[in-house]
Amino acid sequence: MSKQVKKIGVLTSGGDSPGMNAAIRAVVRTALYYDLEVYGVYRGYNGMIENDIEPMNSRSVANIIQKGGTILKTARSKEFFDHEGRKKAFHNLQKKGIDGLVVIGGNGSFTGAEKLSTEFGLPCVGLPGTIDKDLYGTDFTIGFDTAVNTAVEAIDKIRDTADAHDRLFIVEVMGRHAGYIALHSGVATGAENILIPEVDTSIEEMIESLTEKEKRKKLVNLVIVAEGHSSGGATNIAKIITQRLPNMDTRVTILGHIQRGGAPSCFDRVIASRMGYHAVESLLEGRHNVMVGIYNNAMNYTPLEIAIREKQRVNDDWMKMVKILAS
Ligand code: F6P
Repeated sequence: MSKQVKKIGVLTSGGDSPGMNAAIRAVVRTALYYDLEVYGVYRGYNGMIENDIEPMNSRSVANIIQKGGTILKTARSKEFFDHEGRKKAFHNLQKKGIDGLVVIGGNGSFTGAEKLSTEFGLPCVGLPGTIDKDLYGTDFTIGFDTAVNTAVEAIDKIRDTADAHDRLFIVEVMGRHAGYIALHSGVATGAENILIPEVDTSIEEMIESLTEKEKRKKLVNLVIVAEGHSSGGATNIAKIITQRLPNMDTRVTILGHIQRGGAPSCFDRVIASRMGYHAVESLLEGRHNVMVGIYNNAMNYTPLEIAIREKQRVNDDWMKMVKILAS
């Protein structure tokens, strides 16, 4: 039987994602409901090291469910990679009597949480907060739905102008290691080609398909590429296409950080609320060092070490479907 948690800390870490505020709100309000004290740790693990930790109450999280970004701010902490940094951070939690932690973030953030739990025995729970949707053990991550809808809205607009000029557009979306934004936004906008890090699509293959389309006068084409694709991104691809298919009128758009901001979608607010609520219940029930996810519409708890190590796989069927639908 694990010791009852009494004071919890909550932090957001890594790249922000729309819905993080809704998750913070759910964690704080659920903790207060169970008479726990709650502390907000600012700027991710950096704030933990620098003792930037403040008590939170119900009002601290009023009027934030609809806001993008994160009221706790976020960071990618280099110092936390070192044991010394983590020791300092843990000591700051100890001074406040914090005996449980909710970490909202992605893979790197969970690595930090896992280290805190193995090195210092601190009960931690992770919430998948990343636009990349690249975490094992959950069908969705907080922020993905909003980000992908932002991308779709932008790509639809690009298609209008592409169509008007009979142009080929190469649109780069976020995803250093994961292609889910590219895959979903590409399918939803009828993209002719989608390039993602998980699937080894050669540029040659893409040139072949564009050549064939050029021959039959299909000149309006959208290529969606995840920033982490082995080609090096949209600008590189455009260079190759311009050399190989000089008659194609080619343009590049890099969507960038616009995908990380904005009001969270209804879907992201709802999953963030569910996950935040269950994170606190999980800490209270002694289900520690897990990531709280949603799988087949039910809560799913994956040990942090597995969530960090395992990868979501992209089923081959997806790429086959993309080819068929964009012919
Ligand atoms: O949070 C994930 C992510 O948005 C990736 O898709 C992207 O590669 C990376 O963060 C960008 O990070 P930064 O904002 O630090 O440049």
